Amino acid sequence: MAFLPREEHPSLIVGFDLADDAGVFRLSDDLCLIQTLDFFTPIVNDPYTFGQIAAANALSDVYAMGGRPITAMNIVGFPVKTMDKEILVEVLKGGFDKVHEAGAALVGGHTVEDLELKYGLSVTGLASPDRIMTNAGARPGQVLVLSKPLGTGILSTALKGRMLSPEDEVLMTQSMTALNRFGTEAAERFGVRAGTDVTGFGLLGHSWEMARASQVGLVIESGRVPVLGQALELAAMGLVPAGSYTNQNFCSKSLSVAEGVAPEMLSLLADAQTSGGLLLAVNPDRVEDLLAALQKEAPRAAIIGRVIDGPPGAIQVV
Ligand code: CO
Ligand code: CO
Repeated sequence: MAFLPREEHPSLIVGFDLADDAGVFRLSDDLCLIQTLDFFTPIVNDPYTFGQIAAANALSDVYAMGGRPITAMNIVGFPVKTMDKEILVEVLKGGFDKVHEAGAALVGGHTVEDLELKYGLSVTGLASPDRIMTNAGARPGQVLVLSKPLGTGILSTALKGRMLSPEDEVLMTQSMTALNRFGTEAAERFGVRAGTDVTGFGLLGHSWEMARASQVGLVIESGRVPVLGQALELAAMGLVPAGSYTNQNFCSKSLSVAEGVAPEMLSLLADAQTSGGLLLAVNPDRVEDLLAALQKEAPRAAIIGRVIDGPPGAIQVV
């Protein structure tokens, strides 16, 4: 939204200028409003599961700011003339159940006729100002933690091409329907102030946004990055969504890759995630405790790198 003028409202704490996950607006000295929305076309075949994924994904941007969702509204595009209405009912049930799992209330929505099914939600959350996590909070010496494995873009590409094993389909679905609530709770407990969720720009793109906003460099230790199912093998076979190449090019000027990092690993790091995990920058003395707490709910959470003192925006993959 760089073509829009900068939003200068005095109560706006986080706007869209540093590519954060959601807007944060100060309501009072100890309360902030968090607002976000997201919607997309189906990425799995089962409509109920799609509804759950879309909701987990939309809720995630509130969690990524350190907030707790309170209300949500459906956004629906539906091909009335060509699709069975029962499919929409299942999608909406999936979304409703996930919103309730998050402890929020579904309060309305809007449907328009469309050429293809689209579903998502606008989500409103609350947080206290001293618990907001942003892209700009990372400091040299901190450790990077990722709460979910990477590979949903590669696996869903394989699913479309009928190349995905049933085991990997289960792993992918479990990962995308899992709420990021526990990541936020752990972050709050251990005083984390820098975080984002890994979604459409992939780990590389979202790391780059964090590095730029925080004016730091990031080192990603590729060997420690958790991998979803057979994502690396599938990427090596060329099952890489087009968006991954865009993501790689997008931050290529700020990216240095050590010799020996395989091309399929880079594809994984650039893989566009749907309902991906949280990327947190954690103080080194708190990281082991945070990880232990996080792994109770997000067993694949892992340390994947560290924050270094510049150059600002630089990403090293080793
Ligand atoms: Co986000
Ligand atoms: Co988003």
